[in-house]
Amino acid sequence: MDIKPLITTEEIDETLAEMGAKITEDYQGEELLLVGVLRGAFMIMADLARTIDLPVEFDFMAVSSYGASTQTSGVVRILKDLDEEIEGRHVLIVEDIIDSGLTLNYLLKSLKVRKPASLEIATLLLKEGIQRVPIDVKYVGFNIGPEFVVGYGLDYAGKYRNLPYVGVMGPELL
Ligand code: IMP
Ligand code: MG
Repeated sequence: MDIKPLITTEEIDETLAEMGAKITEDYQGEELLLVGVLRGAFMIMADLARTIDLPVEFDFMAVSSYGASTQTSGVVRILKDLDEEIEGRHVLIVEDIIDSGLTLNYLLKSLKVRKPASLEIATLLLKEGIQRVPIDVKYVGFNIGPEFVVGYGLDYAGKYRNLPYVGVMGPELL
């Protein structure tokens, strides 16, 4: 096997249940708009949402920053904008992974000017200590090292998103 399991399906389920309970508590009495960042976040979006006990609506954005390489280009393109207006609403961005932070930094800037009531981030994975811009992340599933990971929505060159766990790519595959 060329992909070494790093985080199991059970660990993901458990962590998302805790995150969902925390979100439910933090937004008690409010309605929430979950904004998934395509494509990587589709799986966490579906699983996390089912652990949140609040009136929730969904929207998605698609951005591109990587192409087929494992290094960030630092250039973010919005491929699909939100369908919803977010002024006055509680918005929670749902991400698969934060690496350099450049993607989210750009997204936050472009969403803040639309005046949401609140704007926070939930991410399954955070690569610890390598952000190139400071990012305030309210909900983090797992802190991981700088290695390139795939599975549970995360891809390498479009593949491996369907793995039910998060694994590290062996160097022979990169
Ligand atoms: P950032 O802008 O460098 O924070 O990168 C954010 C995006 O890059 C994520 O939403 C992922 O789509 C992708 N990415 C970053 N690190 C990884 C990884 O280890 N595996 C797969 N995709 C990654
Ligand atoms: Mg992504």
